[in-house]
Parts: sequence; structure tokens; C-alpha cells
Amino acid sequence: TERKNIAVIGGDGIGPEVTREALKVLETVSPGAFNFHEYDLGAERWQRTGEVLPESVLEEIKGVDAIILGAVGAAPGSKSIPSGLLERGLLLKLRFELDHAVNLRPSRLYPGVPTPLAQHVVEGREIDFVVVREGTEGLYCGNGGAVRTGTPQELATEVSVNTAFGVERVVRDAYARAQRRRGKLTLLHKHNVLVNAGKLWNRVFTEVGAEFPDVETNYLHIDAAMIAMVVDPSQFDVIVTDNLFGDIVTDLAAAVTGGIGLAASANINPSGDYPSMFEPVHGSAPDIAGQGIADPTAAISSMALLLDHLGERELAARIDEAVATDIAERGSSRTSTTETGDRIAGRLA
Ligand code: NAD
Ligand code: IPM
Ligand code: MN
Repeated sequence: TERKNIAVIGGDGIGPEVTREALKVLETVSPGAFNFHEYDLGAERWQRTGEVLPESVLEEIKGVDAIILGAVGAAPGSKSIPSGLLERGLLLKLRFELDHAVNLRPSRLYPGVPTPLAQHVVEGREIDFVVVREGTEGLYCGNGGAVRTGTPQELATEVSVNTAFGVERVVRDAYARAQRRRGKLTLLHKHNVLVNAGKLWNRVFTEVGAEFPDVETNYLHIDAAMIAMVVDPSQFDVIVTDNLFGDIVTDLAAAVTGGIGLAASANINPSGDYPSMFEPVHGSAPDIAGQGIADPTAAISSMALLLDHLGERELAARIDEAVATDIAERGSSRTSTTETGDRIAGRLA
């Protein structure tokens, strides 16, 4: 069979460090299946050339079969790189241009993993859920502005964009996923305050639900969901929510299931018109970059999502299994980025 083309964007900070291990594992489970095309996008390129994502590069990337991304962005508070320049200009630009409507973020508490929830973990009630985060709308559209900047009369707005089309396609995806899993779907929003968008999400959630009578549904306000995520996360199967709520809830979800170093994600283009993108949920972690201590597990698990997306279900399951075994065996002992990659690849060799 023909080799698939994969664009690889290591990015900034620990991005390239964890991506290297992810590629190692991917090559081990599917030797020779892929041509990797590396792109040096990120802070360094911007500082050297002023380019964030040149149009020609974007066009090239549109033609590959999938994208692997490490992380982009400088340390919060960086003086040399404006906050959001790389996040908006590179990461979000890819999500928007490639129409990554379904941002999939699974969370599972693996046996043997230390969790701050220890007292809430109940034998026989597993923590295993997936957040379907809308990826192309909401407060992420960059729809806003500022006037009288720097004066006492300064006014700044960010407007959340929600379309029936955008909400429906992500809600439908979430129902279908719930049907394939344990048949439960939870909508997170804040319709007691955000009444306009809230109405739209609620109505679509109910309407699409009529087509999935076997899926049990419920609704939680996002603030109450933060409580539920900590005191009783086993209640969740599939969660669907908007872009910003989804961003926030998935960092918490990661924290309660073993930490941000384990959380994988897929940015899926539902129509198949453009390549989907696979990346850890975490960022460039400037505080530990260059030390060789970043956990590459999230990046590695994202390769399982990539293989699953490309139809290689068995290979994906093999990665998941190797990761689960490694997590159980490593316990709370700290190992280096490369050692972890080597160990997981070693199990798959
Ligand atoms: P972060 O996820 O980079 O780091 C948060 C904390 O988690 C830090 O203490 C970090 O050391 C730790 N951490 C993250 N990944 C880890 C790993 N694999 N192993 C061990 N520890 C890990 O979030 P932040 O500090 O808010 O953001 C840093 C930069 O990354 C910012 O510029 C931000 O915009 C960007 N960012 C990018 C992405 C992305 O590219 N997808 C995601 C989140 C944040
Ligand atoms: C994530 C990140 C991004 C987001 C940022 C870096 C734009 O936090 O992937 O979760 O908010 O989506
Ligand atoms: Mn985030």
C-alpha cells in the first residue's frame, strides 16, 4: 500500500521533545507506512524570519493525510514573543483553516495512576470519558476588538460565535460517539447566563437527540461540572461543549486522570476535506523545556488517535495497551522523555 504523508510540526519548548518520542512509537508499530514532512514552524522561525504560517506552507499542509503537532507558544509573560501570536497564527489558524470542528479529548484513569481524586475513586466505577469540544467557533473566532486602549475608558470585547451548522455537527458527532460507547451524553454550557448561545445549544441538543433515542442525556452548567469532574467523574461517558468550556474542562479532566502529561487529543475534520491534526492537550511547558524530563505519553497516545482515524484500529489499540502497561508499571517513578519513549516503543517492537 502507498505511504501516507504526515506533516510534523514539533513547535516550541517541549513540543519537539515529545514529538520525537511519538514518531519513534509510530514508526515502531507501523514501519515504513508514513512519509514524514517536518516543518520548522514556531517561535524560532518567527524570530528569524517574521513568518508564523506562510500561505504556501498552509497550502502544502492541506494536502497531507494527517498532521502531528507538538506544542506552540512562549512562556506566559514572555517579553520577546507577543502572547497569542503563535497560538492564534499557527495552532488556531490550522484548526480553523482545516475545519477541525471536532476536538476530541479522551480521559481515562489507568490502573495504578496516582490521582488527586483518590478518595473519590470507587472500585468498579471506572473513569473513562471523552470530551467532544467544538473546535472552530465560540470565543475562539477572534471576533472582538478594543477601543481607547490604555485609557481609563478602555473597552475590550470578545464575541462568541455559535452557528446552527457548527453546533449541530459537533453535537451529532457526540451522540454517535455516545452510541458506540456507554450510551450517555452530557452537555456542558451556561445557559442561565449565556442565554443566546445557550438556547441554540440546548435546542440543537434536544433536536438531534430525537434521532438517538437510545442515548441517555443530561445537562450541567459548566461551573457545576467542575465539581462533578472532581467528586464523581465516573458519571461521564461523552461530554459535548463549546470551544472555551471544552478547553478548560479538558485541562481539569487531565489533572484528575493522572496529569496533563497523559492527555491526548485529535482535531478532526468531519468532512474529510482536510487533514486532521493530532497533538497532546498540553502546551510547550517552558518551565521544563530543554531538560529532557517532559512526559511524552500524551504525544504518544495521540498517535493511537491518529492511527484510529486512518482506519488502523488494531495498531491504535496496541499503542493504547502499551501505554496503559507502561503507566501501570512506572507508578510514580520519574523517568526521562527518551526513556519513556524507548520503553513504550520497546513493548511494541
Ligand atoms: P502547559 O501545558 O505548557 O504547562 C502547564 C504545566 O504543565 C506546566 O507546569 C508544565 O511544566 C506542565 N506540563 C505540560 N506538559 C507536560 C508534560 N508533557 N510533562 C510534564 N509536565 C508537563 O501550559 P502553559 O504553561 O499555560 O502554556 C505554555 C505555553 O504553551 C503558552 O504559550 C501556551 O499558549 C502554549 N500552549 C500551547 C498548546 C498547544 O500548542 N496545543 C496548548 C496549551 C498551551
Ligand atoms: C489547547 C490550548 C490552545 C487552546 C491554545 C494554546 C490556543 O490551550 O489546545 O488546549 O486554547 O485551544
Ligand atoms: Mn488548553
